[in-house]
Amino acid sequence: MRTMDDLGDPADFYRHFAEREAKGESRTFEEWARGLAADPEALALVATLPVRKRQPNLVFAAARWHGARTPSGYDDPGALREVLLGQWPQVRETVLARSTQTNEVGRCATLLPVLAGLEGPLALIEVGASAGLCLHPDLWSYRYVDDTGAQVARIDPATGPSGVVLDCIVRGEAPIPPSAPQVVWRGGLDLNPLDLTQPDTARWLETLVWPEHEDRRARLAAACREVADVPVDVVRGDLLTDLDALVDRARAQAPDATVVIFHSAVIAYLDDAGRRAWQDQVTATLERVRAAGGRAHWVSNEGARVLPDVTATARCEGVESDFCLGLDASAVGWTHGHGRRLTWC
Ligand SMILES: C[S@@+](CC[C@H](N)C(=O)[O-])C[C@H]1O[C@@H](n2cnc3c(N)ncnc32)[C@H](O)[C@@H]1O
Repeated sequence: MRTMDDLGDPADFYRHFAEREAKGESRTFEEWARGLAADPEALALVATLPVRKRQPNLVFAAARWHGARTPSGYDDPGALREVLLGQWPQVRETVLARSTQTNEVGRCATLLPVLAGLEGPLALIEVGASAGLCLHPDLWSYRYVDDTGAQVARIDPATGPSGVVLDCIVRGEAPIPPSAPQVVWRGGLDLNPLDLTQPDTARWLETLVWPEHEDRRARLAAACREVADVPVDVVRGDLLTDLDALVDRARAQAPDATVVIFHSAVIAYLDDAGRRAWQDQVTATLERVRAAGGRAHWVSNEGARVLPDVTATARCEGVESDFCLGLDASAVGWTHGHGRRLTWC
């Protein structure tokens, strides 16, 4: 999987995105990315964006926001081009104003075995939490299946089955727990926390979901409805500078809980120096909590190239586009980017 630093060459990045990320996931985005990579006029527009704003997911979402038709993009390959060339000032403004804050509740299915394996109760701290949907692993139902589709385990919240059922294929001896962990405190941190009570916010999050992924869009809408009654605090801040303040709040309000600092699809947004700084920061925070007699862990779920030190410890192979799932800097498995599959090492 590529990182955002590779966006310096958008044609190559979009070709790679078509082949390695969109293929098999979204025919529309596969065709759009391949078409754009071969279209000098559209590429020239994308190349005017700041490097980190050239991501296919962001450009395509902005184009859809301004009316590019989906999911019939492959029958109608002009849809993207028409909007990019015809409404570039508007698309550009949306790209610059918004970001790919996709909040994928499905990732809870791949995080759950790690979270439930930790000594509870838990104080969950998610950095890069977006709207905070992944801070509620105890709110959803889970259906784990094997490669043939046969159910391996089903987990429901203590209050009964949820309207949001997360399906996940498991490979390897994943420690699927009998129930969700007990969470006594939860809080998030984000550069731009999203407020789901704003209709525009929910609509943007839905636009970020890939066109053919109707199940994810329906799940997102259902999850947003469920959390409407259980708001979670996601504070504005930078994970490189504001982690300790949040950890201190959790420790003060839930002194007996195990602090779990976690993140999914976030550290890719930092440059190399930022990624190294994050690793140092989280390590120092864990040490500080432990030195004070507390329990603390770090759960990471990021693209294979994002935290190379963690990835290097993996003892089995995942699919090329998989995320590497880590606990305290050691890889425990591989996960599908949207939580559809977990391979336990
Ligand atoms: C792709 S979203 C992932 C959201 C969520 N973790 C999930 O898995 O659904 C990445 C989030 O990270 C946030 N983010 C990126 N860099 C950050 C930073 N330095 N500090 C805090 N949040 C950051 C973005 O604002 C965005 O909401």
